Amino acid sequence: MKIRGKHFRTIWLEPDDQRVVRLIDQRFLPHRFVIEEVRTVDEMATAIREMHVRGAGLIGASAGYGMYLAALEAGSRNSFEKDLSGAAAQLRATRPTAVNLSRAIARQLENIAEARTVAEKVVIALRTANLIADEDAEHCRMIGQHGLALIRKIAETKRNKAVNVLTHCNAGWLAFVDYGSATAPIYAAHDNGLPLHVWVTETRPRNQGSKLTAWELGEHGVPHTVIADSAAGHLMQRGEVDLLIVGTDRTTYTGDVANKVGTYLKALAAKANHVPFYVALPSSSIDWKMRDGLKEIPIEQRGPEEIKNADGWFDGQHITVRIAPNESPAANYGFDVTPRHLVTGLITERGVCEANEKSICSAFPECAP
Ligand code: MRU
Repeated sequence: MKIRGKHFRTIWLEPDDQRVVRLIDQRFLPHRFVIEEVRTVDEMATAIREMHVRGAGLIGASAGYGMYLAALEAGSRNSFEKDLSGAAAQLRATRPTAVNLSRAIARQLENIAEARTVAEKVVIALRTANLIADEDAEHCRMIGQHGLALIRKIAETKRNKAVNVLTHCNAGWLAFVDYGSATAPIYAAHDNGLPLHVWVTETRPRNQGSKLTAWELGEHGVPHTVIADSAAGHLMQRGEVDLLIVGTDRTTYTGDVANKVGTYLKALAAKANHVPFYVALPSSSIDWKMRDGLKEIPIEQRGPEEIKNADGWFDGQHITVRIAPNESPAANYGFDVTPRHLVTGLITERGVCEANEKSICSAFPECAP
């Protein structure tokens, strides 16, 4: 997507030095635009764990490049296989919920194993990393086209009034390599001249909505309003939301959706108010082994400080302030699971399907268990 008129992906290989991966360090947005250089698998693991990069698709692409860096590093030593599987374990342990992470690592290991020499293995690791990133961008672009048709239908009923979309967290281009999942239909609708307005939930505790989604929509010129997370139900009751589009970090092949914590409450409010609730996802976020999302999807728990504090920019500096009493314990659940019966539809790169096993498996028969 474009920032001040210049096209960026969220992660790319340095054209003049293919041993360097560059990425947008999201910790400083929206106030500073910082590009980080990553040269080792350790640095990539830190970037994922500490959320310099985040969002399901981008975590997968970063893991893909992390495995390429691991192959480069292992290539200069005598224990290639051992080093590579150590790097895979290190990357796998960074964040538990987004399935794109383990999917990218498994794909790298499988492809690298096909080659005979170390030099060939490095070439294959690079090719696979680029492929994962390119596929992610292309699948999100296609999600945009399928979601556009949905928004267009709603726009036809609104007689030139703006379609109000509500989204949670950041399933934008910053969460992927390009376009985003939930935002791809929004960008496509906006680019096609449909009048549109987006309600952006701030998404405590890390505020991916107010920091990231609001910033990227603004850069693209999409009208939007940031709201407190708890205002979403109120807006739905008043008829001020035409549809919700959210992303997902892992969706079971039966249609249960794990996404940023707070999504479930929005889905409940959407159901109660007859507002369509869509989940946009590339198939790389479908877990083909998990049947019961509530029981099986691992939910990341992060440190209590994120809940007890708030952070932002003051006088050109990034500062953190304490909100909760020092003595109060805090629990920080990163994600929740929305059961399939609350989901109106899944917007995938192959079109819109229902959130159930039959519909998902007939859209992706080659993956069905
Ligand atoms: O913790 P994050 O920022 O990596 O969480 C991921 C998300 O941004 C959301 O859950 C998003 O809606 C799905 S990721 C495409």
